[in-house]
Amino acid sequence: MESRVIIAVDPSPGTSLDRWVSLASSLCDLVAGFKVGLPFMFSYGVSGLRALRGSCDGLLIADFKLADVEHVMVSTLSHVIGYVDGVIAHSFIGLKGGLEGLKGYLDSVGVRLILVISMSHEGSLDVIDVNIDRLLWVADRLKPWGLVAPATRPQVISHVRGRAPWAVILAPGVGVQGARPGDGIRAGADYEIVGRLVTEASNPVEVVKWINGEHARALRERGG
Ligand code: XMP
Repeated sequence: MESRVIIAVDPSPGTSLDRWVSLASSLCDLVAGFKVGLPFMFSYGVSGLRALRGSCDGLLIADFKLADVEHVMVSTLSHVIGYVDGVIAHSFIGLKGGLEGLKGYLDSVGVRLILVISMSHEGSLDVIDVNIDRLLWVADRLKPWGLVAPATRPQVISHVRGRAPWAVILAPGVGVQGARPGDGIRAGADYEIVGRLVTEASNPVEVVKWINGEHARALRERGG
């Protein structure tokens, strides 16, 4: 079975790049890929991203949670676009002058767009989740490759799966944030994003093998 795990690489200050390059090499055959965000970019810059890319040929996702006007998002991404397979942006910025232009740019360079539909933290309920059907409308108009929905609220994943059968769903929130490995997959996600549960483990390889086993079980239970 192909792994459904995407590892979130979120370095704390002072961590060496070598640590992540060797982690990526050691996990490469066991995971679907890796995701980096602003902590990684501020720590190691574009050269760090290039090094991570060189350590594993799995999926590499830039999670900058973009939420700006079109030309600024494109300008931001132009620095990293040669090294990533996918990019995460917020859906609430809407289409004209925002996501339409971003999608056009990403299509032209063969990089996948992933939109945040709901977040894993509780504050997502304050603004984002009460507007979820409108965010799904945005997604439906744009048909990005992927959508992010939280493993911490499986009922939200089921809702997104029902409304967007065409989407690849990525579910963060597994481990430290409270969801168990397999919760997101069971609810209809395609991948679970896992950070500290793996990256802070004394034996990341064993933890990933265990998560892969939980995913296989979840897939059997959901009948897929
Ligand atoms: P941990 O260590 O909690 O890390 O497993 C979680 C990772 O996932 C990201 N994250 C999210 N990304 N929507 C997103 O697009 C979300 O709701 C969300 N919640 C967590 C977080 O940035 C970290 O890399």
